[in-house]
Amino acid sequence: MLVHLNGELVEHSRAAVSPFDRGFLFGDALYEGLRAFGHPSDPPDAPPRIIGLGLHAERLARGLAACGLDWDPALLGPLTGALLAANALRDAFVYWQVSRGTPDLSRGPARARVPAAALRPTVFGYATPLPPIDFSPAAAPPVKAAATAPDTRWSLGSIKSTSLLANVLAAIDAHHRHRADEAILLRPTPGGALVSEGTHTNVILAHADPAGPNDAADPLDARALSTPDLTAAPALEGVTLRLLHQAEPRLRARPVHAHELHSAREIILIGTTTMVTSVGVIDGRAVPEAPGPVARALRRRLLSLIAPPHPAQAVPPRLAHA
Ligand SMILES: Cc1ncc(COP(=O)(O)O)c(C=O)c1O
Repeated sequence: MLVHLNGELVEHSRAAVSPFDRGFLFGDALYEGLRAFGHPSDPPDAPPRIIGLGLHAERLARGLAACGLDWDPALLGPLTGALLAANALRDAFVYWQVSRGTPDLSRGPARARVPAAALRPTVFGYATPLPPIDFSPAAAPPVKAAATAPDTRWSLGSIKSTSLLANVLAAIDAHHRHRADEAILLRPTPGGALVSEGTHTNVILAHADPAGPNDAADPLDARALSTPDLTAAPALEGVTLRLLHQAEPRLRARPVHAHELHSAREIILIGTTTMVTSVGVIDGRAVPEAPGPVARALRRRLLSLIAPPHPAQAVPPRLAHA
């Protein structure tokens, strides 16, 4: 596997990062996880498309600015194209990490919280194959089990930091203790526990809508759709959430109380690799509809957003081989 390290493509077994890198010592680093894919209508030699590339670059830009890291997020597209081309990949997960860098040990202690001098960020990227996306409109979203867990994390949830210890611990606990595939995190607040997000997903709930028509042709008209307000319970603004939110005005962001997980008709997890996944069991209790009509409709909506008739999101071939 060829990986990207600081501007070069190198065999992964030869890629070396200093043990004093601040990403390793402190988790002083940001990351992005991208989904590259091909559409069945693409010619065989077409460059891969990237889901929401511009939104990933925007989110990374916000994180870089918040952390005072000097790297050009516009490189995300061309470097991803080059990484995929070098590994002859089309359907793939692509990971990028930008750390604050490795301190010069002659200028101060390695673990100084404040680096003695501005550092050159360490940039690392790799890509691994994924199965192709099933674009068939009738295919059902996968169904997974989830368990709730306290959200013990910091309040800067909008920063996509590599410091994921709390997410990892919650996911391990959900897996080993509850045989669950994802932990849904609950942030304690004075007004009660609020749903924030999953350990690697955002959450959407569909409730019965008493005001909705009984015979709605569109399942989204018959349900009240909500997603946690990202400031009431700090959470990451997922690219998948952003895509769906921009396209679906019926999806309302509001504080979502923990108890609503038990009254929802559907609980839906969304994310770059998760896409649209239904929760079938939450804390050992069956969710009424999984996969339900809302998950099916959101899946179809996401597919139409990521692969519009014209491949507007393709990495330009010129850049793909840069
Ligand atoms: C904590 C968390 N929330 C939400 C998401 C979903 O974000 P995206 O749709 O950009 O993959 C992720 C993705 O890794 C995540 O780690």
